[in-house]
Amino acid sequence: MADHWIENHKRDSWRKQAKASGYRARSAFKLKQIQERFGLVRHGDTVLDVGCHPGGWAQVAVELVGPEGHVVGIDLEPCQPVEGAVLLTGDITDSYTQERILEELGGELINVIVSDISPDITGKWDMDQSVAMTLVADVFDFSLPLLKKGGAFTTKLFQGIGVQELIDAVKPHFSTVRRYSPDASRNSSSEVYLVCRNHMPWKSPKQSIRERYEEAVDVLVGGNEIEEGPAPTSTSFTVRRKKKD
Ligand SMILES: C[S@@+](CC[C@H](N)C(=O)[O-])C[C@H]1O[C@@H](n2cnc3c(N)ncnc32)[C@H](O)[C@@H]1O
Repeated sequence: MADHWIENHKRDSWRKQAKASGYRARSAFKLKQIQERFGLVRHGDTVLDVGCHPGGWAQVAVELVGPEGHVVGIDLEPCQPVEGAVLLTGDITDSYTQERILEELGGELINVIVSDISPDITGKWDMDQSVAMTLVADVFDFSLPLLKKGGAFTTKLFQGIGVQELIDAVKPHFSTVRRYSPDASRNSSSEVYLVCRNHMPWKSPKQSIRERYEEAVDVLVGGNEIEEGPAPTSTSFTVRRKKKD
């Protein structure tokens, strides 16, 4: 009970700070703390903000890239405008939405991808966590080819089955991949951020991240095991070869 009270109190405190600082969501502090720790975004950068509603991360990203930078956000939910950002509405896994993101980038490669994406929660934890992990793998597969050499990618993950498998699938694309819990999310249960730095496109495996991730999870949960057939029956039957003349 006491833990629950402390957790709620801390969340309220981040919410109040967000309000006082003019941010739309307390999640803004998570990106600020990721930035303080890892310095992912620089002035003049192009940033893709995945799952940007209501716009807290987009506000922080605009501050970080400055007037020379470019921030493009995407979410299923329409966002109130954020000055200095272009916020699109659509499903990131949908090819039409992907075309619109490409159009908005106008051939420009991205310096940093920040993803706070989380799908609708049904309340069945295992299923929600597994859907969230697959969605993150899809976000990687769509956006990695748009990321500059040396670029960075941070994404939210929900703790549970497959986290290590996703990390393993992502590792070949970057020189460092770390898990990080910003203070602003430390008390919100199960989420953790993956911080991937120094994109190495020339090392990218041919197979997609989602395929490699799903294969690894299948092995983990035993989905790829070949069922043993029935035991062979013994017989006294023998084959006699015809003698050659
Ligand atoms: C935790 S919120 C993001 C908060 C945001 N970072 C901020 O600071 O305001 C997660 C968002 O992911 C979005 N989302 C979930 N699935 C999506 C999808 N397939 N395509 C685009 N956005 C998606 C949800 O609509 C939701 O708004």
